[in-house]
Amino acid sequence: MLTWLQVIAVVGLLVAGAVAGIIAGVLVSRKNSSSSSASSSSSNSSSSSSDPSNFDKDENLHVSFYGIAYTPAGSQLDANCGNSLDDIIKDVQLLSQITTRVRLYGADCNQSALVLEAIVQTKVDLTVWLGNYISATDAGEAYERQRDTIKEVIQTYGTDHIGGITVGNEFMLNYVESQGTDDVTGTVGTTGANMLITNITDTRSMLSDLSVDLPVGTADAGAYFNEALLSEVDYGMANVHPWFGDVSIDDAATWTWSFFQENDVSISDEVSNTPTMYIAETGWPTKSSDTDSESNGASDASEANLQIFLDDFVCQANANGTEYFFFEFFDEEWKDETYGGVEGWWGLFNSDRTLKNVTIPTCD
Ligand SMILES: *[C@@H]1O[C@H](CO)[C@@H](O)[C@H](O)[C@H]1NC(C)=O
Ligand SMILES: *[C@@H]1O[C@H](CO)[C@@H](O)[C@H](O)[C@H]1NC(C)=O
Ligand SMILES: *[C@@H]1O[C@H](CO)[C@@H](O)[C@H](O)[C@H]1NC(C)=O
Ligand SMILES: *[C@@H]1O[C@H](CO)[C@@H](O)[C@H](O)[C@H]1NC(C)=O
Ligand SMILES: *[C@@H]1O[C@H](CO)[C@@H](O)[C@H](O)[C@H]1NC(C)=O
Repeated sequence: MLTWLQVIAVVGLLVAGAVAGIIAGVLVSRKNSSSSSASSSSSNSSSSSSDPSNFDKDENLHVSFYGIAYTPAGSQLDANCGNSLDDIIKDVQLLSQITTRVRLYGADCNQSALVLEAIVQTKVDLTVWLGNYISATDAGEAYERQRDTIKEVIQTYGTDHIGGITVGNEFMLNYVESQGTDDVTGTVGTTGANMLITNITDTRSMLSDLSVDLPVGTADAGAYFNEALLSEVDYGMANVHPWFGDVSIDDAATWTWSFFQENDVSISDEVSNTPTMYIAETGWPTKSSDTDSESNGASDASEANLQIFLDDFVCQANANGTEYFFFEFFDEEWKDETYGGVEGWWGLFNSDRTLKNVTIPTCD
């Protein structure tokens, strides 16, 4: 099941202010992709050189992001994969110039091994949170396939460059919605959490069999965590998208932080294991493939607005200890082809790995 395509994020709209918090559910469907052009900054990397650890650094790039959300091109099993070590080495050379952490969404198409191999060959300082993209409707097939892959990868590469294993991406959102509700704290939410916890517990057993100690967590829409789930994970990663909350660009950074505190960090604080909470995704799209989606009602998808979000969010979040994975490394063509709209246009880089017309912030 190719669900990550159907990233539907329901985002509560939080209006900060003296008056009241309004919760507006916004269904978001995120996909990706693109082949774009338009870039003003050149980011070439020479992975063709015989030594991938010897590559040109781009003076426009700075290690300013806590983390980056990353899906290597050609990593969809349903679309016959197609990724390659050479391409992923190019990605890793660029990623290492903007962050020390990346998160993956799934383990199909050998992406976990390819990313770890690229880290080894480039000798960069990069930690990866591996992903197991599971389905609620396949009796555990996708889960088990990826679990076995992740196990092999740990046996091959060890844990030096692994930050954790993320079991599930928007599992709760998809499950709860499929049951015709949005009440994640009710019976349906508890049932969904228990299904997911079954696989989380199984992953812990797999790690324990290897005598390996790694954090195990899950990633979901920011409004879809509950205590049942968070009490069983080492970390939760929450998507928090001002674009899908119909927030104006000028309020985007503040809204993101407040939403995350009120919907995610607050639940973690309620459970005794107090799992680490990360923002799994936040960002701003730079264009739309159709006119209807050019604006979220308050602001446009544009490089200028991505720049504002970068300037307002990144260094401030670093300074106050907010742990986030910026969405995302580069535009994803398959998402644009599959979903249109803004789905394929969230990258800091274009799909050809040239930097978009933005200035990467330099934080102290
Ligand atoms: C990268 O770009 C710079 C200047 O744009 C150029 O001097 C250098 O040769 C390029 N390196 C590769 C490997 O293409
Ligand atoms: C997966 O990638 C690793 C690293 O490049 C490689 O050693 C391994 O053979 C690949 N496995 C498959 C099944 O392609
Ligand atoms: C994984 O979870 C699914 C339910 O979502 C379940 O059917 C399957 O048996 C589980 N597999 C393992 C090994 O935990
Ligand atoms: C933390 O950073 C965010 C993101 O820029 C900002 O909106 C928020 O106000 C900051 N919080 C604190 C307590 O400084
Ligand atoms: C790049 O961004 C700058 C600043 O927003 C803008 O002035 C310029 O026109 C943009 N260039 C292109 C080619 O879009």
